[in-house]
Amino acid sequence: MMKNPSTSPFCMLSCLIVLLALPLPPLLADPDSLQDFCVADLSASASGNGFPCKPASKVSSDDFFFDGLSKEGDTTGIFGTNLTSANVLSFPGLNTLGVSMNRVDFAPGGVNPLHSHPRASETVLVIKGRLLVGFVTTGNVYFSKVLRPGQLFVIPKGLVHFQRNVGKNKALAFTSFNSQLPGAAVLPLNLFASKPSIPNNVLRKTFQVEDSVVNSIKSKFGS
Ligand code: GLV
Ligand code: MN
Repeated sequence: MMKNPSTSPFCMLSCLIVLLALPLPPLLADPDSLQDFCVADLSASASGNGFPCKPASKVSSDDFFFDGLSKEGDTTGIFGTNLTSANVLSFPGLNTLGVSMNRVDFAPGGVNPLHSHPRASETVLVIKGRLLVGFVTTGNVYFSKVLRPGQLFVIPKGLVHFQRNVGKNKALAFTSFNSQLPGAAVLPLNLFASKPSIPNNVLRKTFQVEDSVVNSIKSKFGS
């Protein structure tokens, strides 16, 4: 009689290897929480993936409240923008909930420079002014739109994007994320202000420019 191949010890081992090698279903956002809430105890060190919970007996309404996005940010910096974050580090009540938000203020002409969020997609809601919002795909296709108050644009997870104030007055937007800590790789700072710095010959070759150009850009970002 033929032996059922799936029960032979060889198949059990090889089947297990094949199963382990299969790609996991994509995790599109932070993992789901296993309790109603878990207000972060920021004084304890982060345990690799989030923060331990503050004891429930010590949690109050104030832990679910954050006033930090109510104030206009100072836009006098080089980019003419200011970003205020309500993420788990500033608003511990977000811990394990998989959401966060930013307030972005823009001076006329201000640019929230090219950046990407490795852990979240982003929605951009314009409250005041007119904003050009754009992103580029991994296939180098550029999508953009000029938004007015009440209009929304979505930036897919991980893609490089920006906003620019194209109106005559100040502009204001709120951005939201499906992560408690989306992270931001801000390209000009990543590339030209890392510590230690990326060697000039790498930047020269990457951008096909002279050393003086690389040094000039580095000097603008204080390195
Ligand atoms: C805008 O792009 C933001 O990250 O808040
Ligand atoms: Mn962003």
